[in-house]
Amino acid sequence: MALKITVIGTGYLGATHAAAMAELGFDVLGLDVVPEKIELLSQGRVPMYEPGLEELLRKHVAGIEGSSGRLRFTTSWEELGAFGDVHFVCVNTPQKHGEYACDMSYVDAAFASLAPVAREGSLVVGKSTVPVGSAARLSEVLPEGVELAWNPEFLREGFAVQDTLHPDRLVVGVASERAEKLLREVYATPIAEGSPLVVTDFPTAELVKTSANSFLATKISFINAMAEVCEAAGGDVVKLAEAIGYDERIGAKFLRAGIGFGGGCLPKDIRAFMARAGELGADQALTFLREVDSINMRRRGHMVELAREALGGGSFLGKRVAVLGATFKPDSDDVRDSPALNVAGQIHLQGGQVTVYDPKGMANARQVFPTLGYAESALDAVRGADVVLHLTEWREFRELNPAELGAAVGSAVILDGRNALDPVRWREAGWTYRAMGRPVA
Ligand code: UDX
Repeated sequence: MALKITVIGTGYLGATHAAAMAELGFDVLGLDVVPEKIELLSQGRVPMYEPGLEELLRKHVAGIEGSSGRLRFTTSWEELGAFGDVHFVCVNTPQKHGEYACDMSYVDAAFASLAPVAREGSLVVGKSTVPVGSAARLSEVLPEGVELAWNPEFLREGFAVQDTLHPDRLVVGVASERAEKLLREVYATPIAEGSPLVVTDFPTAELVKTSANSFLATKISFINAMAEVCEAAGGDVVKLAEAIGYDERIGAKFLRAGIGFGGGCLPKDIRAFMARAGELGADQALTFLREVDSINMRRRGHMVELAREALGGGSFLGKRVAVLGATFKPDSDDVRDSPALNVAGQIHLQGGQVTVYDPKGMANARQVFPTLGYAESALDAVRGADVVLHLTEWREFRELNPAELGAAVGSAVILDGRNALDPVRWREAGWTYRAMGRPVA
């Protein structure tokens, strides 16, 4: 009989995983402790913006016309326990307030609720990003006969569906052959389609995730450090990235210099990793991550200074600043630790009159930063602006008509915080275009 799957936590990770499991042919029950989310998902609606996810959900959520009916949602732990052969734990592990360490309270709460209801013989699979050592600790919470595995997730927001159905690799940390066999059964389709499966112990599986994100963060901060040097020396970091990226050992991806990384993962993951290494007495191994973090945070301050410079130096008081982009990356509505929103906020707090526009992130941005000005379109945001900041590289912004915008602004100066606009197009339309780590024309 086919395995029955449950998914605990229905954020970006859990909602996508649940829909993907249904797509792979399993009967799936998703659980969240927030009833409003369950209500939305049960109607085939997604509480966030993630391309392709709503379509995939609607294909499977029970009760929707034409759906496979394989996917249902609940708030009941008893129902979940009775249903599942394999339980995927996909809850959030944010940064603790005022500390580097990871907040494990959602994971701990999930395990505490799951332990008494999980059937004997069922397998619990952790997907959340956790400090190394957590799996060993959490396996103690589960009753005899209920086993644990750790299976980190590498999905990117904006590509969550694609990354879940066709992962670069699958990593499973297991303590028995049975757990490995069950997970091979769950992932039979992606494995058959060529996704390699790496089987490890618990600590290695946990470390794969944090080290992968640390490497990505380091790569971005490396190119941003080069941008600083390029600016000082008159070089062009975009050309530099292109040239070093042709070396296959380096690779062209994740070498986009700009205002740096943000989001719900990279910043908090490198901090939690440092905190955990400290607890393990291995803090020296990761001191470089402190530098990675500080290079990254410096980018935001640098953008604020470039904006000040563009306004003639001095105070932001009375200056109108248009900000294009609020999310931490395009194709997402996520504003968690968003560099764009941070820059907008810094300028606002220094007296600037900031107007933000983002294609999908407005509702979340308004919630996080209600005192900023918001406009309903890029054109409305730039109306009368003394400077325009391009801070999230949405396709919509690349396709803007610089001439049309130029007619609406007070002064046609654009600072490209993502090195994503075409300088020639903007300059030809009469704009002063300035990017990060590139020569001032
Ligand atoms: C990341 C990892 O990529 C993913 O594997 C993991 O599962 C979760 O964390 P995500 O946070 O969705 O995914 O976004 P990602 O595409 O990695 O971008 C992170 C940040 O880095 C964004 O703010 C992005 O703008 C920035 N970035 C990315 C750069 O500044 N330059 C780059 O070259 C690439």
